[in-house]
Amino acid sequence: MPAFNHVTLRTKRLLLRPFRETDAQAVFSMFTDHKFMEFVDSPPFGSVDEAHALVARDMKALASGERIRLGLERMGDGVLIGNCTLFNLDWNSKKAEIGYGLFGSEFGKGYMNEALASLLRYGFSVLDLNRIYAEIDPKNTNSAKSLDRIGFTKEGLLRENCIVNSVVSDSAIYGLLQSDWKNRDAIGVL
Ligand SMILES: CC(C)(COP(=O)(O)OP(=O)(O)OC[C@H]1O[C@@H](n2cnc3c(N)ncnc32)[C@H](O)[C@@H]1OP(=O)(O)O)[C@@H](O)C(=O)NCCC(=O)NCCS
Repeated sequence: MPAFNHVTLRTKRLLLRPFRETDAQAVFSMFTDHKFMEFVDSPPFGSVDEAHALVARDMKALASGERIRLGLERMGDGVLIGNCTLFNLDWNSKKAEIGYGLFGSEFGKGYMNEALASLLRYGFSVLDLNRIYAEIDPKNTNSAKSLDRIGFTKEGLLRENCIVNSVVSDSAIYGLLQSDWKNRDAIGVL
């Protein structure tokens, strides 16, 4: 498995890079931001210690090649505005799941589209993944739009797939194949 701890990706406005120990306060703010957390199936962080623990876990996971979560650092001011992740990596089937989120204050500015394009390019071109998929709450219309916009296909619905705080919800499955991605790249959509 490759190690991911030195991976950094650049877009027009963002530097995608692993979280560092010094990001703990920003990570805490992220994981307590109401809009960021709205569809996350775990409670908001209770203290900054949980952010320190997340950064430590991420460092291990990057080094072992288990998962690649990158913080989105805005290049203009160096502020962390969100993150995106490739996880559940399955090298036999050459597939991975994608996750992402922004601070609510940063919605509607096109940042995630930039970040996802860059992470997907890395996943398909560098890691040679064949399939990248997302599982989202169908009520998460912003997330569905992000996936549609970048070329994912809605493939189906897992009925009553999640129970969070006694609330039962379905999961919509979206998939993007390397061949879909290359076709979009070839016709200049990306
Ligand atoms: C999912 C999520 C990242 C989508 O955020 P978003 O801001 O809608 O997505 P983008 O950053 O790509 O921005 C796209 C929007 O910015 C607009 N925009 C403004 N300036 C832009 C620019 N310079 N370039 C591109 N788009 C721009 C686009 O028109 C689009 O608006 P629209 O959706 O009204 O058409 C965000 O809602 C989120 O973080 N939610 C909480 C976490 C979450 O639910 N994650 C998914 C769980 S799997």
